[in-house]
Amino acid sequence: MALSVSLTINGTARDVTLEDPRVTLLDLLRERLALPGTKKGCDRGQCGACTVLIDGRRTNSCLTLAATLDGAEVTTIEGLADGDRLHPVQAAFIENDGFQCGYCTPGQIMSAVGLIAEGRAGDDPERIREGMSGNICRCAAYHGITLAVQDATR
Ligand code: FES
Repeated sequence: MALSVSLTINGTARDVTLEDPRVTLLDLLRERLALPGTKKGCDRGQCGACTVLIDGRRTNSCLTLAATLDGAEVTTIEGLADGDRLHPVQAAFIENDGFQCGYCTPGQIMSAVGLIAEGRAGDDPERIREGMSGNICRCAAYHGITLAVQDATR
């Protein structure tokens, strides 16, 4: 049975019909709504590549059923920049070499935006690493990622 969901994605209201109630937010974004910036890594809640903000909270979109999001506000990496102007966290990742291959970067940036908004980033590298521990970087660019979060927090 098809389900209808009304949600806001990156500031735009979207009405979505779900033929399969088991579709995840991650698959909805990438396959139906042409928003491929959110990445699929493990697809089981272990890597953080699929991190988005739902009502301002960091969430693994691979573990979130789209059917549960009626009325929700979703922000993806595509929703951060203001036109040509990068979000300060995006700029800080570039400034501090907070990536290598870049595959995990959208999830890292969304997680950093959420962490800073939670007021949990601070200036302490250990605290930042703990707060970002749900986001795995296979290239191990953790030093640059930590510097970027520190920089964006200031
Ligand atoms: Fe969602 Fe890895 S793809 S946590």
